[in-house]
Amino acid sequence: MSLTELLTKRSSIRAYNEEKIDSELLLEIFKKAQASPSNCNVQPWQTLVVSGEALKSLGKSLIQEVLSGKPPHPDFDWLPKYQDIHRERQFDSANTLYSAMNIDRTDKAARQQSMVRNWQFFDAPTAVFFCMKKYLGIMGAVDMGIYAQTVALLAQEAGISSCMQGALGQFPQPIREQFSIADDVGILFGMSLGYAKTNAPVNTAKTGRVELGQSVQFFT
Ligand SMILES: Cc1cc2nc3c(=O)[nH]c(=O)nc-3n(C[C@H](O)[C@H](O)[C@H](O)COP(=O)(O)O)c2cc1C
Repeated sequence: MSLTELLTKRSSIRAYNEEKIDSELLLEIFKKAQASPSNCNVQPWQTLVVSGEALKSLGKSLIQEVLSGKPPHPDFDWLPKYQDIHRERQFDSANTLYSAMNIDRTDKAARQQSMVRNWQFFDAPTAVFFCMKKYLGIMGAVDMGIYAQTVALLAQEAGISSCMQGALGQFPQPIREQFSIADDVGILFGMSLGYAKTNAPVNTAKTGRVELGQSVQFFT
């Protein structure tokens, strides 16, 4: 499949079937993703790829943490309060998602429940945590985003769907404990990986994009 086809076909998937990802295939994806470019080739990514029993037990402790009522305490403070046009787009994407699930915008409980699915990895067999040294700041985050997109597209090429999740960086403590993450390393965000559940309404959510002219200017 060409890159253009991969980009056209890809969308964030938030319901997965039970099929596991073959471990050799998973290894291959992350081997290839090592080719991602990074500033000064520092390759800041320290990636955790979690499946099987390790993911099950992490899911339990994450849900416990999320439902405990503790506020999020991310390692990196990167969730902006969106303004103006960005806020409108944020609302649009939420509406697209909740409409696909037939959840009314006033139904807070249902919205909350669907939000919590983030920390169950939407039933995906594998979750990825993108970590980097905390001192790297914005330049490290740029590299990490490029790397994560590389992983997502390589997965897509292999027929594996994904959802990038800032939510997976919001409650880092259980992840830090289970995998003994060093104090100077932070979890930036995560990603669920697996095979899309074909009949799930949530997976029909398709976001749009603004007209090219609103994003890109060409000068000659
Ligand atoms: C850095 C990043 C963080 C995201 N965090 C979440 C998240 O926590 N939960 C979620 O359901 N989707 C999350 N998404 C998915 C976006 O909502 C999605 O990419 C966007 O709405 C565009 O839709 P599409 O991916 O289907 O094209 C995230 C995407 C990115 C790139």
